[in-house]
Amino acid sequence: MSAPRVLFVCLGNICRSPLAQGVFEHHANLCGLDVVMDSAGTAGYHIGKAPDVRAIRAARSFGFDISAQRARQLQVADFNHFDQIYTMDASNYQAVFEKASTPAQRAKVKMVMSLTSQEGRGGCLDVPDSYYGTGDDFDAVVTMLSAAAKAWISAVEGNEVLT
Ligand code: 4NP
Repeated sequence: MSAPRVLFVCLGNICRSPLAQGVFEHHANLCGLDVVMDSAGTAGYHIGKAPDVRAIRAARSFGFDISAQRARQLQVADFNHFDQIYTMDASNYQAVFEKASTPAQRAKVKMVMSLTSQEGRGGCLDVPDSYYGTGDDFDAVVTMLSAAAKAWISAVEGNEVLT
């Protein structure tokens, strides 16, 4: 099996999607699974910046390092380069979906929390935007994304088609 290529997308690419990339890579490494992962933002506000210090700190406390990541904006080429594109919330989903230009590209775009059955408030699949929150909110993001990462790895190892 060739390494799955996965892109995580949020708005600024300094809080949630760098954590998603880090936590998915961390769990994949623990399982010896070969993966190609990256993250991007729908907006270009923070291009070239390191992740938010609160995200770096939360990652460290969960045992992984995201400090070398640098923010970038989603590119049209990403739709061909990656097999799966996981967005952090419904607003990112809409923005990414609208940039896709073929049915095959649109089929790659999913909400990351759709990987788990742990839907939040009222069936909401959003990873809450911790940029406006506290350190605890960043820890909560990592906890949510860890559940999604474990579900993703089970699906990949079980050769399930990810829907
Ligand atoms: P992210 O969080 O999308 O999880 O990286 C944000 C980062 C920056 C901004 C908004 C959300 N901002 O408005 O600058």
